[in-house]
Amino acid sequence: PVLVVDFGAQYAQLIARRVREAGVYSEIIPHTATAEEVAARNPVGIILSGGPSSVYEDGAPSLDTGVLDLGIPTLGICYGFQVMARQLGGEVAQTGLREYGATDATIITDSVLLGGQPVEQNVWMSHGDQVAVAPPGFEVLARTAATAVAAFGNDARRFYGVQWHPEVKHSDHGQTVLENFLHKAAGLAPDWNSGNVIAEQVEKIRAQVGSAHVLSALSGGVDSAVSTALVHKAVGDQLVAVFVDHGLLRKGEREQVEQDYVASTGVRLITVDARETFLNALAGVSDPEQKRKIIGREFIRAFEKVQAELVAEAAAEGEPIRFLVQGTLYPDVVESGGGTGTANIKSHHNVGGLPEDLQFELIEPLRTLFKDEVRAIGRELGLPEAIVGRQPFPGPGLGIRIVGEVTADRLEILRDADAIARAELTKAGLDNEIWQCPVVLLADVRSVGVQGDGRTYGHPIVLRPVSSEDAMTADWTRVPYDVLSKISNRITNEVRDVNRVVLDVTSKPPGTIEWE
Ligand code: XMP
Repeated sequence: PVLVVDFGAQYAQLIARRVREAGVYSEIIPHTATAEEVAARNPVGIILSGGPSSVYEDGAPSLDTGVLDLGIPTLGICYGFQVMARQLGGEVAQTGLREYGATDATIITDSVLLGGQPVEQNVWMSHGDQVAVAPPGFEVLARTAATAVAAFGNDARRFYGVQWHPEVKHSDHGQTVLENFLHKAAGLAPDWNSGNVIAEQVEKIRAQVGSAHVLSALSGGVDSAVSTALVHKAVGDQLVAVFVDHGLLRKGEREQVEQDYVASTGVRLITVDARETFLNALAGVSDPEQKRKIIGREFIRAFEKVQAELVAEAAAEGEPIRFLVQGTLYPDVVESGGGTGTANIKSHHNVGGLPEDLQFELIEPLRTLFKDEVRAIGRELGLPEAIVGRQPFPGPGLGIRIVGEVTADRLEILRDADAIARAELTKAGLDNEIWQCPVVLLADVRSVGVQGDGRTYGHPIVLRPVSSEDAMTADWTRVPYDVLSKISNRITNEVRDVNRVVLDVTSKPPGTIEWE
C-alpha cells in the first residue's frame, strides 16, 4: 500500500481516499509508527499528512527519522512538508505570518510533481510556520506571496513536499499533484478498483468460511446490504440474512429489502416483524438516550430469538453457523484505533449493535473501504440503486427523528413527510450534493396555523439537509428556495397534522446531524 502517516488532523482520511481515487490502494498509520513497523508493511509510497500543530510546539507529533531512510518515495503535505524539511536539514521558521484559505501559488520550475500545470494556480493553505530554506539537494518548486518555499522536490530520492493541501477540492490541481506523485514519481499503476476488490474478497471469504454457515443482519442500509451481497457471492446459500423490521423504517424500505434486494442477489432472507414489540417498549418514553437504549436492546432481543432458531436448525443439518457478517467500514476502524477517549456524544447503534456475547467469528469484508468505494462495489454487484445510493440512516431509525414519544400515529406522519422531502430532493437532482436530509417531527411542539377558513393547531416538520464528507463535520446545504417551497407546500397540504415546515440552518458542530 501507500501509507498515509496521520499527524492527528482530520486530513489523513481524505488523503487516503484521494489516493484510492487515483487507483492506488492506501492505508493510514499513526505517526508514532517506527521505521521497522513502516517497513514491515511493504509500502510503495509514503504520504505525510497535515496536522494541527507547529513543529516547534511541545509534544508536536514527530516522525521516526528512520522512515525517511527507507528509500521509499515520499510526499509531505503541509505539516508533513515541514516535518520533512526539518528532518532532511532544511529550515522551518516561525514567521508569525499565517496563510489561511484560498491562496495564489506560482510554480517556479517544471518538475515531476507539478509539471504540465498552469504556472499560476489557486491552492488551499492552512499554516502558521513555513519552510524558510529547502533541505540540501532539494529544488524549490513553487512559492506564494508570503512563502518563498511552498513546494520542494528531489527527483533522485523521489522526495517531494507541498505546503498547501492538494487533497481538498479547493486546490485547483490538487488531484493532479497527488497523481503525479503516485503514478509518475513513485511509478504506481492505477489498477486498484472495485472489480479487483470483489474478486480478492470472494476468494478470502471462501477460504475463511469453508463449508460452515454464515449469518448476516440486514438493516436496509448500504453497508450491511453490500457486505451481505459480497459474502453471498462467495458462499451462496451457506448464508442466511436476517432483517428486523422495527417499525422505525422509512416508507418503502422493507419492500426494497424483501423484494428488490432479494431479487437482485438471491439472498435467503428472513424478516422478523417486531413492530409491535418496539412500539410497546417505546411507549411513554421521550428521552433521546433512553429511546436509543431501548431500540438497541429490543433489536438484540429480536435478533437473538431468530438466531437461536437458525443455529438449532443448522446444527441439526450438521453444518453449524460459525460466522457473522458485519458491515464495518475503514473510518470505523481508523477512528476506533485512534485510541484517545472521545466523548460519548450519542450512543450510536446500528447493525453493529448486536449482542456482545455472540459465539460467532466475524467476517468484515468492507473493513478496508470507504463509503464511496462500498457504493461502487454494490453497483458492481448489481444491487438496486435505491439501496446503494441511499443516504446514511441511523440504526434507531425514525425513532430518533420524532422529538417526543414515538407512537404509530406519529411514525405515519413522519414517514409521509419524509417520503415527500426525499422525492422532491431527488427530483431536483440534489442527491449528490446532499449527504443526508433528516426530516424531523417536533411532536411535542404545536403552533397555530390557518388552512381554508379554519384555525389549525399542528406540528412543525424540520428539514435538515446537510453536506458532508464523512458526517464528522457538516454544513447545511443551500437547497434552492423553489425546491424548499415545493417540499413545504406538499408537506403542509398532503400530511395531516402538520401546518408548518422549518429549515435547520446549523452546521456541525455545533449541531449534530440528527436532532436526538
Ligand atoms: P450525528 O447526529 O451524531 O450523526 O451528527 C452522524 C451520522 O451518524 C448517523 N447516526 C447513526 N448511525 N446508528 C447509526 O448507525 C446511530 O445510532 C446513529 N446516530 C446517528 C447520522 O444519521 C449521521 O449520518
